[in-house]
Amino acid sequence: MIDLLELHKMFILRHLKPGDVAIDFTMGNGHDTEFLSKAVGPRGHVYAFDIQQAAVDSTRERLEKSDCPPNYTLIHASHHLVLDYVKTPIRAGMFNLGWLPGGDKSITTMRETTMPAIEAAISLLDRDGILIIAIYPGHHEGDAEGEMIRNYLPSLPRYKYCATILRILNSPDSPYFFMIEKRNKPDAPSKEAPSQ
Ligand SMILES: C[S@@+](CC[C@H](N)C(=O)[O-])C[C@H]1O[C@@H](n2cnc3c(N)ncnc32)[C@H](O)[C@@H]1O
Repeated sequence: MIDLLELHKMFILRHLKPGDVAIDFTMGNGHDTEFLSKAVGPRGHVYAFDIQQAAVDSTRERLEKSDCPPNYTLIHASHHLVLDYVKTPIRAGMFNLGWLPGGDKSITTMRETTMPAIEAAISLLDRDGILIIAIYPGHHEGDAEGEMIRNYLPSLPRYKYCATILRILNSPDSPYFFMIEKRNKPDAPSKEAPSQ
């Protein structure tokens, strides 16, 4: 069976290279921050955001214990404020929406801040960059966030971005993800297939 949460790392690694800059928009316990830190290596940099101090502490401990290079900045703030902290283009960004595993389920990502964070993330995306947004359906806010993003992404210009959804059709309550890839040459409209 496909593990969608492993699959999205495969997509990210097609874009993210040593020396790049990446953002973990939902730090949680730091699994994704660790993955990004190791992928960009000592010449790269990772910024990670969370509104919970417990997440920042838990992530710092994980990174220190897991041989990550000192290439990260952990930020105790909401991800919709990302443009106050990150001034350089990014090659990859990860959103893992929902609540801190093992933590308070009432502290979850919310549409009001998720949407501006995604728009800011898209504005930071470098050429050939990628954003992954993992959705956990089956609870009210998760369902609503998924629907909001599903409605928003088709509005992105197709000559600049490729927006994709990966979802297991016969398991609608399983996590799924959106992927936004910025094209290498985003300024020119892509060639249309010749009409028959
Ligand atoms: C599903 S967890 C992330 C899991 C994490 N990526 C990992 O590898 O362990 C979602 C996290 O988003 C955080 N969060 C909720 N609202 C947020 C916001 N506005 N800005 C940043 N983080 C937020 C929660 O505190 C929680 O830790």
